[in-house]
Amino acid sequence: MGVIAVTGCASGIGAAIRARAESDGHRVIGVDLRDAEVSTDLATPAGRSNAVSAIERDCGGCLDGLVVCAGVGPQVEDRALIVSLNYFGAQQLLDGLRAALARGAQPAAVAISSNSSTIPTSESPLVGACLDGDEEAARRTAGTLAGGQVYGGSKLALTRWVRRQAPRPEWAGAGIRLNAVAPGPVQTPLLQAGLDDPLYGPAIRGFPVPTGGFGSPADVAAAVAFLLGPQARFCCGAVLFVDGGTDALLRPDTY
Ligand code: NAI
Repeated sequence: MGVIAVTGCASGIGAAIRARAESDGHRVIGVDLRDAEVSTDLATPAGRSNAVSAIERDCGGCLDGLVVCAGVGPQVEDRALIVSLNYFGAQQLLDGLRAALARGAQPAAVAISSNSSTIPTSESPLVGACLDGDEEAARRTAGTLAGGQVYGGSKLALTRWVRRQAPRPEWAGAGIRLNAVAPGPVQTPLLQAGLDDPLYGPAIRGFPVPTGGFGSPADVAAAVAFLLGPQARFCCGAVLFVDGGTDALLRPDTY
């Protein structure tokens, strides 16, 4: 049916998005550090431009969908890596592939955010540095913050970027729908690494999930499939929480 590029396709949520897209009849161009059509490091500018060129070549300059999912969790020691991958590795692919998407059929893009973006401590100077496109400043600022703040800040910045861009002439005006999904805890290697961490494990377990338990990668893939598909033709700049009700519980009156 269509050609869809998925970053972070080798594991967890990205692997489920890939499987779901393929079972829906799409051809997937996967991007990851390894085990993908495009093996590259999205935490570096060179790796990102390599990914953009490789995807453009593979799809002949005409891309129907893009899901930016590659990311690392709050427990990784290198906090600059968190912001370089989770924000710049996503935003620069969206930006770099916009022209190819504009030539696609009913094109749509989805950014994988997180419900941790709405935790109050996620608001920090890191968010402004990201949105200013200043990766060096963002990396420096990340070094002064706790991992959880950097993780939440990278996802807040990504969501804000999506909301700022989605209605613009370059996106909605060019026929490309841009939306975000904000998962809560989903059983993947990333979550497991967080659960195993002495600092973040108790915090993750203490987060209330009204429906109970953790989500599965397929739960998130279903939301992504909807946002990529024609039934979401009127969704633009939406943030779809797939988190068992945590965000609604903690912020019932934000609307
Ligand atoms: P995962 O660890 O299972 O998969 C992440 C993928 O990203 C892996 O295949 C990994 O190789 C790839 N990756 C890591 N560094 C990379 C790099 N430098 N360049 C290219 N690819 C790289 O993690 P999971 O849980 O599937 O996470 C996917 C996305 O979902 C992430 O953006 C994460 O922040 C987000 N998320 C996950 C939640 C969870 O509870 N699992 C909750 C909310 C958001």
